[in-house]
Amino acid sequence: MAVRNSLLSELTIPSLRAPLVNVESYRQVARRRLPRSIFDFVDGGAGDEVTTRANETAFAEATFRPRPMVDVAQRDLSTTVLGRRVEMPVLLGPAGSTRLVHPEGELAVARAAARLGTVYALSAASNFPLEEVADAGRGATLWFQVYHWKDAGIVADLVARAKNAGFHALCVTIDVPLSGVKDRDLRNGLTIPPRLTVRNAFDTCRRVRWLRGFVTGDPITFKNLEPYSFEMAAGVMGLSTFMREKLNNPSSTWEDLRWLRDLWDGPLVVKGVLTADAARRCFDAGADGVVCSNHGGRQLNGNPASFVALPEVLEAAHNRNKEVFLDGGVRRGTDVVKALAAGATACLVARPYHWGLVADGEDGVVAVGEHLRSEIDNVLAQLGVPRAVDLDRTSIRWERMSERAAGHLPERVPDCLPEDPRVDAR
Ligand SMILES: Cc1cc2nc3c(=O)[nH]c(=O)nc-3n(C[C@H](O)[C@H](O)[C@H](O)COP(=O)(O)O)c2cc1C
Repeated sequence: MAVRNSLLSELTIPSLRAPLVNVESYRQVARRRLPRSIFDFVDGGAGDEVTTRANETAFAEATFRPRPMVDVAQRDLSTTVLGRRVEMPVLLGPAGSTRLVHPEGELAVARAAARLGTVYALSAASNFPLEEVADAGRGATLWFQVYHWKDAGIVADLVARAKNAGFHALCVTIDVPLSGVKDRDLRNGLTIPPRLTVRNAFDTCRRVRWLRGFVTGDPITFKNLEPYSFEMAAGVMGLSTFMREKLNNPSSTWEDLRWLRDLWDGPLVVKGVLTADAARRCFDAGADGVVCSNHGGRQLNGNPASFVALPEVLEAAHNRNKEVFLDGGVRRGTDVVKALAAGATACLVARPYHWGLVADGEDGVVAVGEHLRSEIDNVLAQLGVPRAVDLDRTSIRWERMSERAAGHLPERVPDCLPEDPRVDAR
């Protein structure tokens, strides 16, 4: 009976089960359709996941200060990100190995970004070559995300390929000196690419839709890296060996960020910044923006929620004409609006679009984006701020005494007015 029920839950069209009304409903579809180990790989975080959970709950630390009786009949969610207009302040962040959840992986995400009129930051650890993703994502603004891998020749070549393929910005992720230790992955015995084992066979075989895509598709590898390793391309060398020998690099320093700055003549964003000091060093090294991010809690459990770290990072950007983005735990339009009101230029999401991919491929990613778009639109109206670019700190009230004590948040709202350049400008 249990088997029959689980098969039914896999085969039933989600729209007949429950309407997909928010990002969480897409997560529930993913939970039903993906093998446990794959769902956990995307959903999980490092250790006991305190940081991953905190990312989502931290947004409650700010509440709104609505302005009634403002004409909000016309609303505008568009903004400018590193010199490019985007239709909404939600960007699709970098995530390696998207084919783990859907056969069209990064190609589908790139197409969805073009339809949503937003940015897609492609991870160098993607399962399709960056050139193919650039083709698929025509119309989207594309960023290329790299790590400062051990083999600098590979990194330099990837950066040159990204330039040739038309990527607009380079995004350098700096919060992975070593891979985070994820309890769920250890418990599930996850391997990449995934393997069918006696232990996971029952669970995997009942996820019919996922299994069909997995067995009929090409083997899952880091396609961008195949030109640099005949052994990996031929399947002689496993991904983990290749990563150990050529990629993992615990000895990166700020000098390496300056080296990347010199390689790339377009906009440069550094991702994985949680302190004012780190943000200042990024700007000093020539970054045009930083992503206030703890990697979705997937690296160091015990890091603060991104939204908690945001005021400190913004402080470092003050008066420097730099952009600060936020990612981690963004699930609602209210989260995005609070981050923008605090001073972020835009938010990035990663897990939410994976859940959209599982539900309906490219269309599912667009649907998740549209849910966020319509929630943001509604919040702007309720708040009395019809244009996303006009949000500022007068629209939120900080509830956190600890942060106020640390001096990163204004005591009372009027105190923040001179500190917020967007307020002065009006
Ligand atoms: C499955 C998965 C793979 C990821 N891979 C990368 C990556 O290759 N490069 C990177 O900079 N961040 C990576 N991240 C981190 C995300 O870019 C992002 O910082 C984080 O997931 C944002 O939180 P959210 O998932 O709650 O939206 C990955 C995240 C997930 C969920």
